[in-house]
Amino acid sequence: MNIHIKNIRENECVCDALILPAVEGISVNLKALGASVTALMKRISAAEFQGKKNELLLIPAPADIRPKRILLVGLGKKEAVNPETVRQAGGKALGLLRNSGISTAALSAAMLSDLALSPAYFIEGGLLGLYTYDCYKKEKETRTVRAITVLTSPSKSLDDQLRTAEALASGVCFARDLVNAPSNDMTPSDMAKAALSLKGKNMVVRVLEKKACEKLGMGSYLSVSKGSAEPPKFIILEYNGAAKPPVVLIGKSVTFDSGGINIKPSDGLEKMKYDMAGGAAVLGIMKAAAALQLPVNLIGILPATENLPGGHATRPGDIVTSIDGRTIEIINTDAEGRLTLADALGFAKKYKPSAVIDIATLTGACSIALGNETIALMGTDRSLVSAFRQSADFTNEKVWEMPLYDEYLEYLKSDVADIKNIGGRTGSLVTSACFLKEFAGELPWVHLDIAGTAWTEKDRPYTPKGASGVGVRLIFDLLLRLKGKAA
Ligand code: BES
Ligand code: MN
Ligand code: ZN
Repeated sequence: MNIHIKNIRENECVCDALILPAVEGISVNLKALGASVTALMKRISAAEFQGKKNELLLIPAPADIRPKRILLVGLGKKEAVNPETVRQAGGKALGLLRNSGISTAALSAAMLSDLALSPAYFIEGGLLGLYTYDCYKKEKETRTVRAITVLTSPSKSLDDQLRTAEALASGVCFARDLVNAPSNDMTPSDMAKAALSLKGKNMVVRVLEKKACEKLGMGSYLSVSKGSAEPPKFIILEYNGAAKPPVVLIGKSVTFDSGGINIKPSDGLEKMKYDMAGGAAVLGIMKAAAALQLPVNLIGILPATENLPGGHATRPGDIVTSIDGRTIEIINTDAEGRLTLADALGFAKKYKPSAVIDIATLTGACSIALGNETIALMGTDRSLVSAFRQSADFTNEKVWEMPLYDEYLEYLKSDVADIKNIGGRTGSLVTSACFLKEFAGELPWVHLDIAGTAWTEKDRPYTPKGASGVGVRLIFDLLLRLKGKAA
């Protein structure tokens, strides 16, 4: 989408639709519409537009102004408007324009300036909301909003905000594409290809093959791939934007999770293609960071593999050895994500990172506890946890902290090995993280379980159904907060 800034009055802007954000009580900032206002106000009240949150009204424009149509978009109560309200308005508004076949628009920034909110939030929501996934369909959605003009005075800070919005949206949509892709076209090798496509300025990408992983002692990670004919790929991205200890991002990248020998029930099994959403989010973040050349030092790690049953597959009861020499008794082959992450956490230690964040569709128990709205967060670093809370508030990628008390470790005691990979039915959201904590050790670490949020069954204001790309905006915002400090 082409985004421009133009400092002209709303009534002079040639476009298919002029977007006017309005708060409740229909206070639209109409100063710039001059003489047409009275006529317009009549039409608005006749249509009973109230300015409620995400309310839309598309009407023909009065004849004496240049825009062809006017699109009113409600922001709700004035006191409550925040960046998220504006993102949602952007998603809803551009969605309606696209569905009405309207391809050029202008956004009046007057109301948003009154509210001290950047129009970049509107653009961010718009770009995210226009996402479609139709590459496997003969009939494609060809309509889209091609160009939008933001009507306001140009400035360096607005330029920067718009550039960030575009980079973020492109990172999120990159992640969504990878997650929406079927597992036959998103194997570990395909994920490696996607990672390699991000090579560029300050970005080095390496892929460790099975042999190299064996040499490093990643018996835990490799045990997951044994039932599959697809070779595992341990993917490493190094983005060096600053000479500081790095932040390591680890993303669960199980490209299909059948459960392995502990095979899952067939109902909904097709959804298990999204078990690599953590890895996809890490790639989305790396892409956005590189696009903006963020002054941070970032490492992305994706231990990619399939989890399938087969003659060579790992059996329940097998004991494997992780990268740090500890033995793991595999009670359930369906608790495979933590086996891949254990070795990735061990591998991360060599970077002496200032922070380690793992993001994973780790447990069904996560959605039982928190539904599809909230990410479960657990970690050992209090300042990182509180930074995450702030980023969650700002991005509306919500997090809720679950406890990691030592008592839960009891659940993971094995009679024959150093630890076992599941802790039983109760508390399994927490015990999965306790397992990871054992391998994170002294690292300043936070774990995000996105099992409930990585996929949405319903359209949301700027998240069409399917892969949500959750985590990209959250962690990117966190990186901005750490910038200059930890990162
Ligand atoms: N990938 C699943 C978790 C999952 C479930 C993600 C549903 C998204 C939607 C994970 O590998 C898994 O199978 N976890 C098991 C763990 C159990 C065997 C302890 C689970 O949660 O049932
Ligand atoms: Mn599983
Ligand atoms: Zn899984």
